[in-house]
Amino acid sequence: MSAKEPDHHFLAACHRRPTPFTPVWLMRQAGRYMKEYRALRERFSFLELCKTPDLATQITLMPVDQLAVDAAIVFADILLPLEGMGIDLGFPETGGPAIHTRIRGEGDIRTLRIIDPEADVPFVLQTIRQVRGELKGRVPLIGFSGAPFTLASYLLEGGHSKNFVRTKTLMIQNPDAWRDLLEKLTSVVVRYLRAQIEAGAQAIQIFDTWAGCLAPADYEAFIFPYSRRVFEELGDQVPLIHFATNATALLPLIKRAGGDVIGVDWRIALGEAWKMVGYDVGIQGNLDPVMLFTSPRRIRETVGTILAAAGNRPGHIFNLGHGVLPGTPVDHVRVMVDAVHEMSQR
Ligand code: CP3
Repeated sequence: MSAKEPDHHFLAACHRRPTPFTPVWLMRQAGRYMKEYRALRERFSFLELCKTPDLATQITLMPVDQLAVDAAIVFADILLPLEGMGIDLGFPETGGPAIHTRIRGEGDIRTLRIIDPEADVPFVLQTIRQVRGELKGRVPLIGFSGAPFTLASYLLEGGHSKNFVRTKTLMIQNPDAWRDLLEKLTSVVVRYLRAQIEAGAQAIQIFDTWAGCLAPADYEAFIFPYSRRVFEELGDQVPLIHFATNATALLPLIKRAGGDVIGVDWRIALGEAWKMVGYDVGIQGNLDPVMLFTSPRRIRETVGTILAAAGNRPGHIFNLGHGVLPGTPVDHVRVMVDAVHEMSQR
């Protein structure tokens, strides 16, 4: 650490080093629950915001300035690299993201390109450089990507899915096509994340948001090898956080696939999750985002419960169990962040 770089508690916790308090950030900490973000969204589409580094930088910094979180996360989306693979992507006002290019079988998968990050997602890399410049070391900047499986599920389903019928049937019935698709996505994820690290991302979170839809044996056979390759190829340049939702039963496999820190949702007590994955990794989580709609008193109580479950062991990063929901009162987010800082003082 140089004299100019402050000791970043978030990065220290990723390495399971002791910190004076538990660092905290929130998934989706920049977004629609903030009036400044909504004001920008009146003038620009979500994709325009992502693709305009000045605006994406401004949004990335909003929660750092307003909430005193201990890390920034670049304002982008897990689906952005798909455009460079040849996919026509949209974010309609309702109903979640929409993938307009039909990807069903081997023929379609063959047409998908491996991205060149500097050419295909220059705006994400430029945003990372600008945010680092603006932060001047105040807090570290997290970069991110979807995991190969979660990206595959968006490609095959065309958007959100309840049952993942197309994804799972391809996986089981056409293992050759599945392998081709997952290999391509794995290469994309690795290239995309290496470029983010090179641009200045100081930690990386890999979102395998939908992995929890899988039977453990299927995760192990059809997803694990690719996720593991992502972690192996990224190595130990920066801390890596591995996150999935609804995946309690998969936690041992997720840990084995890789990550310095495992992110968990609220469906398991944090202490139990940490015991399950082992104390040789850090743990991130896990307040139910809906709790932020209750009262300051209940929020503080829940923060206390989660901190107690972590038991002062170095390596806990406080977060929600999933992203901040639209409509969340900003004041309540501030209550949570302040409670974590106050109640975890050691
Ligand atoms: O955490 C942050 O503050 C960084 C920004 C971020 C966004 N998306 C911005 C966004 C991150 C880390 C993501 C990741 C992401 N995107 C995931 C994985 C994490 C998760 O939440 O499970 C997934 C599955 C996506 C795909 C995606 N993008 C969905 C499902 C949606 C629509 C959901 C909704 O709330 O309508 C998006 C759009 C999106 N990504 C928005 C934001 C701020 C809302 C865009 C808007 O309407 O302004």
